[in-house]
Amino acid sequence: SPTSNAKKDLAGLRILLTAGTNVEALDPVRLVTNRATGKMGYAVAQAAVDRGAQVTLVTGPTHLSLPEGLAAVERIETGLEMYEAVMKHFDDADVFIGAAAVSDYRPKSYHENKLKKADGPLLVEFVRNPDILATCGEKRQPHQVLIGFAAETEHVLANARGKLERKKSDLFVANDVKQAGAGFGVDTNIVTLVGHDGDEPLPLLSKREVADRILDKMITLREGRLL
Ligand code: CTP
Ligand code: CA
Repeated sequence: SPTSNAKKDLAGLRILLTAGTNVEALDPVRLVTNRATGKMGYAVAQAAVDRGAQVTLVTGPTHLSLPEGLAAVERIETGLEMYEAVMKHFDDADVFIGAAAVSDYRPKSYHENKLKKADGPLLVEFVRNPDILATCGEKRQPHQVLIGFAAETEHVLANARGKLERKKSDLFVANDVKQAGAGFGVDTNIVTLVGHDGDEPLPLLSKREVADRILDKMITLREGRLL
């Protein structure tokens, strides 16, 4: 099983990875965020480092300590900041893995001063953030491998396959967040690897084991792209 003495089968490979949540501010004191903790993405980052990859991590806020041995780290908060950080590094990456729960929306306007409840009910208009993985799908060079995650609550595999196609990716890691052992903040996951060659359901595994299975599959996809 993969540990720090695992073989360095990703030596020299440049992996760009997003992880964690995003935070969008309404005013100086109020934030909109989501339940992602970063555990799955950080497990992928650590596994990739342990296997010898040169990992650039773009991370949203999380309570986790940073994986050791990263080549570079970009700490961001908002979806737009994450988009900018990924675009800065994308051309130099052999592999992009989007494990972050990117904020789909940001408030249309930011209030420089604290909103006051005496002003009445709060109506917030949200506008769409750019899709980072889909943008990578448009900009990709043929050798680059793109991997996305889909945390779903219904039609899990069909939704993941739709995203695989729309975002011009090579693999999607799908999970049903309503299933016990597969939700947010836990150390295990139950995923299906959704690729252009079909679906591969994995058993309940630690997030580290899931990470290694994703990286194993990535090697195969990369070999296919280099042919
Ligand atoms: N993703 C991204 N940029 C976004 C939204 C999502 O790069 N603005 C990436 C995520 O990191 C993930 C994949 O796209 O790897 C799928 O994210 P998901 O939220 O499941 O898909 P969406 O396209 O946002 O669709 P929805 O949330 O409506 O299901
Ligand atoms: Ca989304």
